[in-house]
Amino acid sequence: MKANKALIVAALAAFALSAPSFAQDETEKALEKYRQMMKADPWSNPALLDADRGEDLWKTPRGPNKVSLEKCDLGKGAGVVDGAFAELPRYFADADKVMDVETRILWCMEKLQGFNRADLIKRPHPGGGQPVKELGAIATYVASKSNGKTFAAKLDHPKEQDAVALGAALFRHRSGPFDFSCATCHATSGQRIRLQALPFLSDPAEARKVVGEWPAYRVSSTHVMTMQHRLYDCYWQMRLGELELGSDVSIALVSYLTKRAEGGEISAPAIKR
Ligand code: HEC
Repeated sequence: MKANKALIVAALAAFALSAPSFAQDETEKALEKYRQMMKADPWSNPALLDADRGEDLWKTPRGPNKVSLEKCDLGKGAGVVDGAFAELPRYFADADKVMDVETRILWCMEKLQGFNRADLIKRPHPGGGQPVKELGAIATYVASKSNGKTFAAKLDHPKEQDAVALGAALFRHRSGPFDFSCATCHATSGQRIRLQALPFLSDPAEARKVVGEWPAYRVSSTHVMTMQHRLYDCYWQMRLGELELGSDVSIALVSYLTKRAEGGEISAPAIKR
């Protein structure tokens, strides 16, 4: 009798343990179905609305200087948006700095339109359920204009090489209260955290698959998330403090990831979990 009771208790305990993960599995399956349905009809991707909003923002005279961003040079000449994202990050002589797409847009909003940089980087990313901020919408527009192209950033200028090297070192460098590096979560194939698959980002084959999807509409947070936002969140997961948009560290990480993804296709804005 005693043994039976123990068995029942054990069985109940096992059920209690398995029940939540069963529910999670069902949720994940339903989410996956939802994602597949959205992918089957690319026009249902809500990120396209943000790309449109970004295009309006690009073309509308705004800021204290009341000018549009049509004089903003993304690397292929003032105002050229088509294909520009595919060649970023790159070194810009006017700023004497390597910049990824978001940092360059930030720079143009500050230098051309007269916006205050500190205001723009104070809360640059949306909270759950909020739409992507203006800078992110513009980045979504710019990236969408390289959709279907392959990553072709040259990254051969000495400052570009420095950025990639710093990014590679940061990727492997453990720090923070958990002693995590990016590699802790992103340098093994098939690793998961709870139900989320963790891409093996230092592996070119996997990097080529995912890096070109950002900015992406993220179903679980119902907004577009940019690459700077994605990295900001990973920094938070590592308890490393805030990753500042446009900081050398953020640019180095984007440069490294882009180098890993060289030759991969750009499918931004994509739909992610
Ligand atoms: C504690 C684990 C952890 C660490 C450490 C971590 N990340 Fe992440 N990373 C995640 C999770 C979780 C996701 C989201 C997966 C999802 O949403 O499906 C993610 C997603 C990403 C993505 C998007 C991948 C995709 O599928 O498109 C990139 C890029 C990324 N991380 C880069 C980094 C970089 C760079 C660092 C270091 C600064 C880093 N991560 C550190 C857990 C981590």
